[in-house]
Amino acid sequence: MRTLAILTLSAAASSAFAASEAAEKAYKADIAPIFEASCIGCHGKDGKKPKGGFNMTSLAKMEEGFGKEKKPAIVWGNAAKSPLYTSAELGISKPDDDHAMPPGDKEGRKPLTKEQLEKLKKFIDSNK
Ligand code: HEC
Repeated sequence: MRTLAILTLSAAASSAFAASEAAEKAYKADIAPIFEASCIGCHGKDGKKPKGGFNMTSLAKMEEGFGKEKKPAIVWGNAAKSPLYTSAELGISKPDDDHAMPPGDKEGRKPLTKEQLEKLKKFIDSNK
């Protein structure tokens, strides 16, 4: 009986971590390469100070937030409320917007493609 209780407990504990482990996996496979190409140059590459106080070198760093106040960049389950997504969306639809990423005035900027943006949306919407 005691063994069963312990087993049940550890199963519950590991399922609590399942979502973030899945997020970490999906991030590395699908999302990190996109950011590597379009964002990292200004957001923490080679240990340089990240622009806007937003470090994009890992999912954990991104979850720390941006700016002096460390505002959340990711609202899990809600891409539309996640600056990480909305800034990249503006980078495609409205490059002149102050919040567009990559910033619209940068030569050689590499905005996400529509497919990449869709991947990012799914990644945020489907993880909690
Ligand atoms: C050419 C440099 C550059 C690139 C490339 C770049 N950023 Fe930024 N990013 C900035 C700067 C500068 C700020 C600070 C903007 C401010 O404070 O107004 C910033 C701020 C941010 C913020 C904080 C929110 C905000 O509006 O201040 C987010 C989120 C962000 N970037 C995401 C991205 C993403 C996602 C990409 C890739 C698609 C990207 N950035 C690519 C320069 C860059």
